[in-house]
Amino acid sequence: EKGGFRTFMDKEINDEPQAVADTLLGRTNTAGNLTLDELRIDEALLRTVDKIIVIACGTAAYAGHVAKYAIEHWCRIPVEVELAHEFRYRDAVVSEKTLVVAISQSGETMDTLMAVRHAREQGAKVLSIVNTHGSTIPRESDAVLYTHAGPEIAVASTKAFLAQLTAAYLLGLYLAQVRGTKFPDEIAGVLADLKAMPNKIRTVIDGGDRIRMIARWMDSRSVLFLGRHVGFPVAMEGALKLKELAYIHAEGFAAGELKHGPIALIEPGIPVFVIVPSPRGRDSLHSKVISNIQEIRARGARTLVIAEEGDDAVLPYADEVFWVPQSPTLLSPLVTVVPLQIFACELATARGLDVDQPRNLAKSVTVE
Ligand code: F6R
Repeated sequence: EKGGFRTFMDKEINDEPQAVADTLLGRTNTAGNLTLDELRIDEALLRTVDKIIVIACGTAAYAGHVAKYAIEHWCRIPVEVELAHEFRYRDAVVSEKTLVVAISQSGETMDTLMAVRHAREQGAKVLSIVNTHGSTIPRESDAVLYTHAGPEIAVASTKAFLAQLTAAYLLGLYLAQVRGTKFPDEIAGVLADLKAMPNKIRTVIDGGDRIRMIARWMDSRSVLFLGRHVGFPVAMEGALKLKELAYIHAEGFAAGELKHGPIALIEPGIPVFVIVPSPRGRDSLHSKVISNIQEIRARGARTLVIAEEGDDAVLPYADEVFWVPQSPTLLSPLVTVVPLQIFACELATARGLDVDQPRNLAKSVTVE
């Protein structure tokens, strides 16, 4: 059932363009409006929402981090992102006007389920973004937006993450549509951009030979990941993949945080992945990350740069560049995370590890 791939993880990475396309499918009408009637949630209620709290664990929580940037930008609603287990056991301020968005591939993660129950007890409405039909979290939510990634077998989440991002974008655009914070043609424009993403993801997967080669030769005991804006959760996700699959120490940082501490970790030869924001986006972001690359390179880091095609500004400071197709900044995690997934998968495979079943981990964590 691996369809000719070495591992389920290789297969599931290869399935990513389809997972994104399927999650978009059937959710717009011919006029280019979003039709999320499946939510069966009153539009009037969505107009009263004054705060969103995204709860999730692990990779799903990183999808939530990206959702925050998109939803705040499109809808002007404050969004908090919180690990489900931390949300559950503090006195979170929740009201009937709070929309809690729970993200889970399995729909069975106990930490997330307990947080869902807690949120509803406090009077919040809970909308879940879930991949597995018939699982517990959607049954206990007020509304569900399913991701259509298909079954995910490998323990480490890959295609489900991209589908979670996609569903979160759809939710953000839907809220913008219902609340009128974006013009219909702007929403239609983002939807068109989203529909162009599967082909771009395919380009990254097909162009993965160089990153696979780098992964096979990597002998470092520690790898760092830096990103800014939506590149920050991507950096954390890249680090998580490497920890769980290759058992290597890895950390993801917000690039702006570098000089507040982590730069002390930079020593000659240390590999550092840097996710560079689009030079066509907010210019200051791009140039700040370029300076970060310059700073760590000057201290001897081996810079592994993920940048947009045509961004020649990275060339003087990059030991390696992995190009991704041009995309709107908010949607860019759909392409920038892919080389990091390939990297972790290849490195672990080269070390003879079982990437589908990493030690000490289970596909769904059904205890708190
Ligand atoms: C990482 C990974 C985990 C899960 C987390 C939440 O690769 O798979 O971090 O993302 O355990 O699981 P779900 O999404 O099933 O709630």
